[in-house]
Amino acid sequence: TKRSLILGIETSCDDTGCAIVDSEGNILGEALNSQHLIHLKHGGIIPPIAQDLHRRNIESVVTEALKTASLNVNDVDAVATTVKPGLPLSLTIGTKYGKHLCQLYNKPFIPIHHMEAHALTARMHDNTLKFPFLVLLISGGHCLLAVAQAVDRFLLMGQSCDDAPGEVFDKMARRLKLKDIPEYSKMSGGQAIEVAASKATDPLQFHFTPTLLQYRDCNFSFAGNKNQFVRHIIAQERKYELSPDAVIPDVNNLCAGLQFVITRHLCHRVQRGMEYVALNGLIPPDHKTLVVSGGVACNNFVACGLQILCNELGYKLVRPPHKLCTDNGVMIAWNGIER
Ligand code: KG4
Ligand code: ZN
Repeated sequence: TKRSLILGIETSCDDTGCAIVDSEGNILGEALNSQHLIHLKHGGIIPPIAQDLHRRNIESVVTEALKTASLNVNDVDAVATTVKPGLPLSLTIGTKYGKHLCQLYNKPFIPIHHMEAHALTARMHDNTLKFPFLVLLISGGHCLLAVAQAVDRFLLMGQSCDDAPGEVFDKMARRLKLKDIPEYSKMSGGQAIEVAASKATDPLQFHFTPTLLQYRDCNFSFAGNKNQFVRHIIAQERKYELSPDAVIPDVNNLCAGLQFVITRHLCHRVQRGMEYVALNGLIPPDHKTLVVSGGVACNNFVACGLQILCNELGYKLVRPPHKLCTDNGVMIAWNGIER
C-alpha cells in the first residue's frame, strides 16, 4: 500500500499544535505553541484568551510544521483535526482552520476525538501494540480508564467523579505559590510538585486518606485529597504564623504526600480494572498491556507506581515519550492515519 501523509491540528485546550505524520509512524514535521506561560500569569486558562492566542498562532504553527517537513498542503492526503472534547472556544479555531485548508486544497477532513488520540499515540512507535489493551489517560482535564478494543471502539471502565489529577496538581501548586520560586516559575503545576516532592525529607509527614477504598468499581476521585491538602496548608500557615504570600516551610513533604496519595489511588483503581478485565476475558492473558498517557503520565513517581503494579500482575507498561504524553499535533495526525 502507498504511504499516506496526514496533517494533524490540535487546539482543544491551551496548545496550538500541528504535525505531519506518515503511515509508518514517522514524524515528518511538527510545531507547537504552548500558551502555558501566559495562562500562568492569569492563574488559570481563560477561554477567550486561549481562543485569541490560537487564532493568532494557528497559521504560523501550521506553516512551521509544513516547513520543517519541506512539504506543502498539496502533498498530504488528508487533514485531521481535534473536534472534541475540549474548550469549545479553542476547538473552533482548529476545526475552522482545518476545514478551511481542506476546502482550499480539496482534501478530506478527518474529525478527531482528543482522548482517542491520546490513547492511540503509543501505537505510533510500537507496532507490536495490538488491540485490545488497557489505557489510563491522566491529564489536566481528564482521568479515565478504558479498554481500547479497536481504533474506534473503547470500553470505558471508569472516570473521575470530580477533578482530574493534573487539575489538582495545578490548583495546589497555585495555592502553594510555587511559581514564585524561580526554579518552578516556568513549570506546569504537576511538574513543580514532582520536583518539590523529590526533595522531601519526610514524605509521610502529612497524612492523606486513601479514597474510594470500599468501592469495587474503577472510578476515581481526587477532590477529597485536594481539600485535605488545603487544610494542611492552612494548619501550617497558622502554626508558623505566616504572612499570606509566604511559602510554607514543609512544602516539599506536603507535595510528596499529595503525589503519594494520588499515585496510590491511581494504582488502586487500575488494579481493580485489571482484575475486572481478567475475570471477563477482555484482555488476552498473553499480551496484557497498560498504556498510560496524558500530561500526568510525565510524572516519574506515578509511572513508578504503575510499573510496580504492572510487574505484580504480569502487565507490560507502555508510556509514550513526554512530549507525546502532553497535547500535541503529532497524536492527532497519527490518529488520522489510524482512521
Ligand atoms: O495532556 P495535557 O498537556 O493537557 C490536558 O489535556 O490537560 O496535560 C497537562 C497536565 C497539567 O495539569 C500538568 O500539571 C500535568 O499535565 N503534568 C504533570 C507533569 N507534567 C505535566 N503532572 C504531574 N507530574 C508531571 N511531571
Ligand atoms: Zn490532552
